Amino acid sequence: MPLSLQKVCDIHDFFEPEIDAIIRRDLRSVPFGSRRAWEFAMIFRALGAKGKLQGSAHGLAMGAGTEKLIYAIVPRVAKTVVTDLYLPDSGWIGVRTESPRDLIRKKAPWPVDFDKVDAMAMDMRDLRFPDESFDFCWSTGAFEHIGHDEDFLQHFREVDRVLKPGGVYAFTTAVTFGGVTERIPHNYYFDPNHLVDLIHASPLHAEPVFDCYVQDHLLNRPHPERYQNYGFAAGNQISKPIVSFRRGVTLTANVMVLTKAPERAKVRPRVEGLERSRARLADQAHHLIRETWASPQYLETTIAGRTLKVQPQVFADGRAEFDVIVPPGAPAKYKWVVKRRPVTAVYTWETHAKGNVTAQAGTFSFPTRRDSLYSVKLEAVGDGSLDRVVIRAKAA
Ligand SMILES: C[S@@+](CC[C@H](N)C(=O)[O-])C[C@H]1O[C@@H](n2cnc3c(N)ncnc32)[C@H](O)[C@@H]1O
Repeated sequence: MPLSLQKVCDIHDFFEPEIDAIIRRDLRSVPFGSRRAWEFAMIFRALGAKGKLQGSAHGLAMGAGTEKLIYAIVPRVAKTVVTDLYLPDSGWIGVRTESPRDLIRKKAPWPVDFDKVDAMAMDMRDLRFPDESFDFCWSTGAFEHIGHDEDFLQHFREVDRVLKPGGVYAFTTAVTFGGVTERIPHNYYFDPNHLVDLIHASPLHAEPVFDCYVQDHLLNRPHPERYQNYGFAAGNQISKPIVSFRRGVTLTANVMVLTKAPERAKVRPRVEGLERSRARLADQAHHLIRETWASPQYLETTIAGRTLKVQPQVFADGRAEFDVIVPPGAPAKYKWVVKRRPVTAVYTWETHAKGNVTAQAGTFSFPTRRDSLYSVKLEAVGDGSLDRVVIRAKAA
């Protein structure tokens, strides 16, 4: 069966000759299972399949930063306009600039004809172009960062306005398998049905099917993204999972393909394969948690003044036991506090347990539930350096 145009990420997609060829030929990369490369390849593929990557086409990239996909698309079309917030003080370090044009030139991974490229700062909710300016639009991993439902809808209305009739918008974002949208401000993970509802409420038409099936494969299993949370002081090194397990949420990337077809009646796209994927991925995430805490994990700590914190963690139902390993010269006493929040409720931390621990006893524990995140903080009592204090945790 041919790959659906509109789908979630799956390691098997990298084994498709068509995707492999786009990654090698157009993105000049080696397919190594990077989800971002998948996103670029799937957008490129959708635009090609819809006949938009041709010599007279005009394209618009939104929230594009300096992504590689820009340089793969430019040679295929007449004109590409690249936009992002491009602020001198942007929180996204890669897009800090006073001059988007210079940035796009400087970051080119291979030579392209810059007479065919324009770049400017623009909010993707407010596209300052005349109606019907573009044959196609795209965005990679930017949609989930622009706000809340009203912002997503405003964005779709703007894209619809600037597209020519028959124009196509291909974009990627992040979906969760947990059954509810994670409304993390400026970093949503969408429940697939919520995303489909938003598109259905917009003037644009999605492809008829949204394939949410993730096949069973070792490399599709939920996997943590930050190894340094588990003791690897590896700077910014991250793993590149296909399906991530991030703070209790199981998520992956997806691509959506929308068309401006005002004459067509709106039909809500069918979400396929979600329940089956959800059930298996939930089992696998559960297994991951049990395996993780079956043996002690050394946790990354951050120190602020006299307190020491570890990254919030998810445990299985039961108890978590924390060891505090205190080197000579470090404070001998600590107050510990554990805060808890439901995985699905952002910013609702409440105190869950607290107590005192000494260097000699060195251990404390608290009850845990699978549906919650636990944030542990230790405050030193007395003098001494916290630098070499080690925190280790396991299931009790
Ligand atoms: C995760 S980065 C992705 C960048 C790029 N697409 C890539 O794949 O490398 C998200 C991007 O969305 C941009 N962004 C966030 N809110 C935006 C908005 N309202 N309008 C346009 N871009 C926005 C950020 O500046 C950032 O460059």
